Amino acid sequence: MSGMLVDTFGRVHRDLRVSVTDRCNLRCTYCMPPDFADWIPGDHLLSIDELMTVISVAVDEGIDSIRLTGGEPLVRPDIVEIVSRINAMPKAPRITLTTNALRLQELARPLADAGLERVNISLDTLDPERFARLTFRDRYSDVIAGVEAALAAGLHPVKVNTVLMRGINDDEAVPMLRHAIEHGWHLRFIEQMPLDPHGSWDRSQMVVAAEIHELLAAEFALTPIPGRGSAPAEEFLVNAGPATVGIIASVSKPFCAACDRLRLTADGQIRNCLFATEETDVRATLRDPSIDEATRRQRIAALFAASTSAKLAGHGIGDPSFVQPDRPMSAIGG
Ligand code: 5AD
Ligand code: SF4
Repeated sequence: MSGMLVDTFGRVHRDLRVSVTDRCNLRCTYCMPPDFADWIPGDHLLSIDELMTVISVAVDEGIDSIRLTGGEPLVRPDIVEIVSRINAMPKAPRITLTTNALRLQELARPLADAGLERVNISLDTLDPERFARLTFRDRYSDVIAGVEAALAAGLHPVKVNTVLMRGINDDEAVPMLRHAIEHGWHLRFIEQMPLDPHGSWDRSQMVVAAEIHELLAAEFALTPIPGRGSAPAEEFLVNAGPATVGIIASVSKPFCAACDRLRLTADGQIRNCLFATEETDVRATLRDPSIDEATRRQRIAALFAASTSAKLAGHGIGDPSFVQPDRPMSAIGG
């Protein structure tokens, strides 16, 4: 069977975000409480063979881009093998990875050799002490070394994602962009979304895209780059280029109408949106001993189609009926 994952609004889905673990070696305040203990049970995590089955069905159904996420995907011991086995598939999709960079010093080169195209690195501050407060781990220098390793391994462009939070790191917008330009990072600012563990997100407190633009425009000339397609970031040339900066207005200017993304959680649930309140289970089908491989693949394809058809028009943040998803961000994947 092969087809296209088209939803009821005509959106064709080509990008699958695969969370390979919910474990992480940081505790970013907006993602997990420092004493988080509600991990996905180990026997619910998909094995590498199970992941390959789901991903290869998704590729048959028109997915051409796989983004590996977590938790922190590099804490999964078989991450290099995961990349190389996806890359060996017929019609191999583009493979990218979102990481906190802590393990990139050792892994950037093997991942690049295995077929990884690019990385997105999460970093919210250039101040080591602030980093330790925001992540509950004193690992700033490992992140910087990880970014350097990604650049050296040719994982270009190395995108660095920063969530700006009022009163916490919103004084760093300009210094971060300056540092990024000097070091060859491609920086993108992301609006904080209501995914935090305490449910304390407050729209009126959020640093919105327009404000980020204003902060940067005070120091740099920003020229919009057209042709964004389904990409979440609005891109700007900085001081006429070649440096660029991205601003991701997930909340204030949602890009749901162009969304081409589906998600797979580490325990084998398809989510049609970061903010979905329902999931479609593929784990039971993967583990059903009573069916042959062809039937299994057909059923998984049908589950992808069903999840896609049930996708809503948008995330509805701000609607009176909006509810935060039950899972922490670490178990959904960025
Ligand atoms: N809002 C925006 N981005 C978030 N991330 C985690 N939680 C949030 C949130 N509430 C980002 C991380 C990382 C990626 C996986 O998602 O900073 O870049
Ligand atoms: Fe880990 Fe990413 Fe969550 Fe930070 S945001 S705790 S790096 S999973």
